[in-house]
Amino acid sequence: MKQILVTIGGSEAIDVALRVMLEPGDEVLLPQPSYVSYEPCVIMAGGKPVIIELKGEDDFKLTAQEILDACTEKTKILILPFPNNPTGSVMSKEELEKIVDIIIEKDLYVISDEIYAELTYGEKHTSIASLPGMIDRTIVINGFSKAYAMTGWRLGYAAGPEVIIKQMIKLHQFSIMCAASFSQHAAIEALKNGDADVEMMTEAYDQRRRFLGKGSILCIPVHKGYGYDL
Ligand SMILES: Cc1ncc(COP(=O)(O)O)c(C=O)c1O
Repeated sequence: MKQILVTIGGSEAIDVALRVMLEPGDEVLLPQPSYVSYEPCVIMAGGKPVIIELKGEDDFKLTAQEILDACTEKTKILILPFPNNPTGSVMSKEELEKIVDIIIEKDLYVISDEIYAELTYGEKHTSIASLPGMIDRTIVINGFSKAYAMTGWRLGYAAGPEVIIKQMIKLHQFSIMCAASFSQHAAIEALKNGDADVEMMTEAYDQRRRFLGKGSILCIPVHKGYGYDL
């Protein structure tokens, strides 16, 4: 109850997390390419985005050296955008383990956007929050827009240390009160009984992905009654 905030999509969770954690001038490491809202949200919260250009030759994954090179005295947060929109890149448990030491050494918080966690293929998604030393410094962002195709129902959440979630609740409560109650009821139903649908959808995405080529997890299936014909 004290470590989760239900939000209006993952978008609100990202925005509110940054607003409560940043002091003016704090630097935020922002690997790119990544989701469009991170950079403006950092700026609107008074922070300074420090862009890390992910490289094609690394399969668009983040390395410990890149974090080290981008860190200064003012660095407070790393936004960890995996599974990644738009590259489709994922970071395995072993690859995450390689960046944990530097995150702890530099005393960074991590905002880990895991909204595509359920839509990966092969190896199961690992949350960086599950690795030793990370639970107290990670805010996990997730939601129902992707795995449950509930984008317009606007429901997401942040999960993290009580001390941060407590401040996020204040901002959320006094600006929008709560996420729509009917969406919350739908989300409960999705969590209880939606696994088979997620599996079916993932399979359909996988077919598309293999048809279109390596990488993209963002292809919308048009068969089995899901999605839109793009
Ligand atoms: C990586 C990523 N994070 C967060 C979001 C926000 O999703 P929502 O606000 O619909 O939960 C999106 C939406 O496209 C996204 O691609």
